[in-house]
Amino acid sequence: MKSIGVLTSGGDAPGMNAAIRSVVRSCIYNGVKVYGIYYGYQGLIEGNIEEMNIGSVGDIIQKGGTVLYSSRSDEFKTLEGQKKAIKQLQKHHIDGLVVIGGDGTFRGAQKLTEQGYPCIGVPGTIDNDIPGTDFTIGFDTALNTVIQAVDKIRDTATSHERIYAIEVMGRDAGDLALWAGLAGGAESILIPETDTSFEGVIEKIRRGHERGKRHSIIMVAEGVGSAVDYANKIQEELQVSTRVTVLGHTQRGGSPTANDRVLASRLGAFAVNTLMDGHKGRMVGIENNHLVHHDIIDILQKEHKIDHSLLELSNQLSI
Ligand code: F6P
Repeated sequence: MKSIGVLTSGGDAPGMNAAIRSVVRSCIYNGVKVYGIYYGYQGLIEGNIEEMNIGSVGDIIQKGGTVLYSSRSDEFKTLEGQKKAIKQLQKHHIDGLVVIGGDGTFRGAQKLTEQGYPCIGVPGTIDNDIPGTDFTIGFDTALNTVIQAVDKIRDTATSHERIYAIEVMGRDAGDLALWAGLAGGAESILIPETDTSFEGVIEKIRRGHERGKRHSIIMVAEGVGSAVDYANKIQEELQVSTRVTVLGHTQRGGSPTANDRVLASRLGAFAVNTLMDGHKGRMVGIENNHLVHHDIIDILQKEHKIDHSLLELSNQLSI
């Protein structure tokens, strides 16, 4: 393997820059040429490719977003688009690719691997919804962003004796809402992986109110629906004042936490080593603090599972 390309694709996540830095520097350390591919698979199709050096990734470890930019390419989903991408890889003499992103990114990596281009996936998404790794790059930072917001909302909720429904991202996964709910002391956590009865939510608010609680925080994962709808239903049922905060894309930005930087640095370097060892169509991850790699096909077929014990604990602590 003489030359490796790196790209970021799909929704950006804090820590992607630390991963790019790690890939680029690990290649250079190992005497391998490294190319940055801009705007994900779309940029690959269009030949938006540049050789990187040590300085190309200087001063980015602390930055949110991705210096390689990102896109969601419909063209790359077609065979014609994939052929164009392969032509570009051949033109630049790129022997293998490291792709940083979520499941859509890995689907693309699998297509290229099947067509003879070895690819390694690095899980980068705030959703933490990828099987085969305990954590994805960006999740810890997004979680801390949510928690900062929850703490602030709690102040004003207490002052005005209000019930707040806070909607967090995660697409179809509830990890962000679950972890934020536990860390933020939410009364109820609504996530797509489990059925939480609306009556149960109401009952908890009622009980809290009876013992003099001045506020309630209901954490709503976007995958279960709109926090506005839940807040309206609660208001109707209890005849109390509710408010809604939809945190939106604030959760995707910001300087990565130390945990995300360390995770990204470890996974980026490990992806390069995995590629150099001759593997292809694999996703690197971290399990029980050990670096691992799994077949991307298996990863795409498996369902991400939440840690139900966290939900039980949250219920236990928010009685
Ligand atoms: O996958 C990351 C994510 O932020 C999800 O949590 C969210 O559902 C989606 O991307 C939003 O996508 P977009 O940036 O296209 O609005």
